[in-house]
Amino acid sequence: MVIGKPFLTVEQIQNRVKELARKISGDFNGKEILAVGILKGAFMFFADIVRHIDVPMKIDFLIASSYVKSQTSGEINIFADVREDIKGRDVLLIDDIVDTGLTLKYIHDMLLAKNPASLKICTFLDKKTRRKADLKIDYTGFEIPDNYVVGYGLDFDGRFRNLPYISVFKESI
Ligand code: IMP
Ligand code: MG
Repeated sequence: MVIGKPFLTVEQIQNRVKELARKISGDFNGKEILAVGILKGAFMFFADIVRHIDVPMKIDFLIASSYVKSQTSGEINIFADVREDIKGRDVLLIDDIVDTGLTLKYIHDMLLAKNPASLKICTFLDKKTRRKADLKIDYTGFEIPDNYVVGYGLDFDGRFRNLPYISVFKESI
């Protein structure tokens, strides 16, 4: 296994997170956000960005999984659902990365069925070229090429989530 040097440094990440938070704070001015983080991947991005959003908010999480090692399995499992009432709320769904978009699309549609007042999507990374699902992403941290990346919440086989930066991951040289 090889972890390259940071592809996105701590400083780049933190600057972009603050920018996104400012944009979100402006857009949700006068509202109360229900921020829903998708675990496990979004845990670090979620914790960072909510600290910089200065709009009233409640937070909740759901646990979903679609990946086996680094291959998309196509199957989405919800291990734990949101507990807050979604109906009539201004929901901001926060995830780590959109790849095919199948996972987020599934979760988005599941939440939409609960009749929120609004439902926006914020993702830290976006591999746009890999998209299969028809999904509008409202806030994106960085668009990245089709490389498998780890760190800042993202894993390979459960590992590397604790790295404070993003690296490209290769199984062998
Ligand atoms: P999608 O359904 O194909 O969009 O897959 C999205 C999920 O796959 C993300 O929430 C991640 O958990 C995982 N994923 C996709 N690409 C990567 C990557 O490069 N590194 C780590 N996890 C990834
Ligand atoms: Mg994820």
